[in-house]
Amino acid sequence: MSTPGPLFRPFDKLVKISIGDKEFEVPEGNMLLRGFQYLSPEDVSYGRFCWNEECQYCRVNFNLGPDTLDRVALSCKLMVQDGMRVTEVAQELRYCLRKLGMNVKVKDAKP
Ligand code: FES
Repeated sequence: MSTPGPLFRPFDKLVKISIGDKEFEVPEGNMLLRGFQYLSPEDVSYGRFCWNEECQYCRVNFNLGPDTLDRVALSCKLMVQDGMRVTEVAQELRYCLRKLGMNVKVKDAKP
């Protein structure tokens, strides 16, 4: 894995998240989309993401545990949390994360 550069806010540790049926570790104190970029640097970097709440290509559904409700969010504006479970991702994200090999539902194109 490449060394995280200035793309990432400073972090002391990684936190555990799951995407669909697989667990991953991503830098704490960063937005979830940065976490995705940490896991799949090239594909997310070359994705069509605006990083600015406009494109909506980074939409996810997530929850914080088995007894919590799914919420919809833009991963470019969502801070990662230990134990976060991403249950659905937008098509663009699914494509950019394809090499991670997890099964995850794809969200409808429209919110
Ligand atoms: S990356 Fe465009 S809305 Fe999040």
